[in-house]
Amino acid sequence: MSEQKKQGVLRSQSWFGGDDKDSFIHRSWMKNQGYPSDAFDGRPVIGICNTWSELTPCNAHFRDLAEMVKRGVLEAGGFPVEFPVMSLGETNLRPTAMLFRNLASMDVEESIRANPIDGVVLLTGCDKTTPALLMGAASVDLPTIVLSGGPMLNGNYRGKPIGSGTDVWKFSEDVRAGRMTSAEFKQAESCMSRSSGHCMTMGTASTMASMVESLGVTLPGNAAIPAVDARRKLQAQLTGRRIVDMVKEDLKLSKVLTREAFENAIMVNGAIGGSTNAVIHLLAIAGRIGVDMRLSDWDRLGRDIPCLLNLMPSGQYLMEDFYYAGGLPVIIRDLLGKIHGDVLTVTGATMAVNVAEAENFNTEVITPLAQPFKEEGGIAVLHGNLSPRGAVIKPSAASPELMQHRGRAVVFNSIEHYKERVDDPALDIDASCIMVLQNCGPQGYPGMAEVGNMGLPKKLLEQGVRDMVRISDARMSGTAYGTVVLHVAPEAAAGGPLALVRDGDFIELDVEGRRLHLEVSDEELERRRAEWKAPVQTMVGGYQSMYIKHVMQADEGADLDFLVGCRGSAVPRESH
Ligand code: FES
Repeated sequence: MSEQKKQGVLRSQSWFGGDDKDSFIHRSWMKNQGYPSDAFDGRPVIGICNTWSELTPCNAHFRDLAEMVKRGVLEAGGFPVEFPVMSLGETNLRPTAMLFRNLASMDVEESIRANPIDGVVLLTGCDKTTPALLMGAASVDLPTIVLSGGPMLNGNYRGKPIGSGTDVWKFSEDVRAGRMTSAEFKQAESCMSRSSGHCMTMGTASTMASMVESLGVTLPGNAAIPAVDARRKLQAQLTGRRIVDMVKEDLKLSKVLTREAFENAIMVNGAIGGSTNAVIHLLAIAGRIGVDMRLSDWDRLGRDIPCLLNLMPSGQYLMEDFYYAGGLPVIIRDLLGKIHGDVLTVTGATMAVNVAEAENFNTEVITPLAQPFKEEGGIAVLHGNLSPRGAVIKPSAASPELMQHRGRAVVFNSIEHYKERVDDPALDIDASCIMVLQNCGPQGYPGMAEVGNMGLPKKLLEQGVRDMVRISDARMSGTAYGTVVLHVAPEAAAGGPLALVRDGDFIELDVEGRRLHLEVSDEELERRRAEWKAPVQTMVGGYQSMYIKHVMQADEGADLDFLVGCRGSAVPRESH
């Protein structure tokens, strides 16, 4: 029972409920927006946390969505108040949106706690907006519900479906290999992003929308409804209605975000062939709400989960197809027996009850458990002398013939070094080599950019090579594919063994054996370590230097160390 509930009043009444000067100030200034006095009579005040921004195109329709949420809140007898927080647009933010995930989460946490809010609706869409908002809200722990903005309609280029991100990587390599002209490449831009919404492949945005649905913090069906489908508006209205009741029931986030809920999400991630980025985000969210989750849980729980969903980048379909096939409730229903069906969700019912009536309308898109699209869906966690604290690979997006591979390292010590060298005809590289990228982790980039799926050398593309083993401490876009080992921890910039790899070293990747081994003796590694110098950080002062000082490694979720944990929703002292 929360502090406010014990006293029989909601926390917003600490602002609006009195007869003194302070309450006058709180109510009077709000009334300049035209609210009647009864808006302050003790009804639940619902904060609608909005990440709308024209610089975050995936969330640019959120003002309309917020109006639909307000409609639902008003219908249910609540008082809706919309507020903006920092918005993270994946395509525009440099050096990477991930650098600002934790900053946005601070904005969310402090904005919720400091304001007269009893319950929160989080409007999430583009990749980092989902974890940032949930991390911030988890550190406050009020009744909270998530509404995703929904994916774009399927891309279509010259009569064929094309997918966000996935086909950018493909087209870009086609141009470099001489199979596509620059004019065709440019034409494809408007064919790819042709409606409101976030990436419509199973990239990070769709993955995180699926993660929040499988965590139980959204209404059922949230993940797949296209952004421009009328049923997305309906979902918004129903979400607005539901949060008012959640406040009355005191259904706080911590009652839903249990260890079992996270275990469910990990298994669902395997079944949808979800993004590797989910690993870092879920670890960070768990850290905020106080659930002890480890990188090893991903391997343990995801190992036996087949990939059921035939969506790009692992497969061929897109989110619109997923919605028409029945959406995420079908996958969750099919996993009952493996996942915890008895967990409580924001509906007030269990997950099993929420998905009981799900129906599969297209078994090519959502394949049956008995005949899965791919046998291995989960994220594999690799250990060895190159990644003592772990590294990850997504087998469903990798080439089966490279899952066990020994190759000569070709090392790039920064993304600039890679760009300089990769197309140099003199670069000593062939298809059996392993491309190694250093200093792109949380501290090194900084912000752990999505550069791990570095493009292959032009001369190899021209020979028809389509995949090679790549290893880095970076992340990769959830829309990307390939035999790409990511999140190597500790990262190179923090002195991890990745920093010690040199051109010509041999590396062994064994995904089945979960091993990543650098064939260099311990003595030689010690000698190299003695010579190693940390890269010089160019940004001095400001948020970035605070980030570099406090960011944790990828295996811990890359949160800032001082943000871990829940600091609660106690009402702060008065401001006047
Ligand atoms: Fe926003 Fe992909 S760029 S979701």
